[in-house]
Amino acid sequence: MSEPLEIRCRENGPYVVKGPVRIVDHLGNAFTIPPGKDTVALCRCGQSKKRPICDGTHRDCGFQANEIAAPSP
Ligand code: FES
Repeated sequence: MSEPLEIRCRENGPYVVKGPVRIVDHLGNAFTIPPGKDTVALCRCGQSKKRPICDGTHRDCGFQANEIAAPSP
């Protein structure tokens, strides 16, 4: 069985999706991901000009998010 897809919540930044992934819009059309790239950063601040892809704007807009996952029981 393969490892599950990993989505990392970057502190004060995007969701980083690691692994082969296809990202589609609400109509099912795929966004272009540079060939050979196996990591994609998805904007979660809502300010990127390239949504859903992070363009680094989170650094300038004061976006803050630093959720910590609760330890497994
Ligand atoms: S999280 Fe990077 S531009 Fe929004």
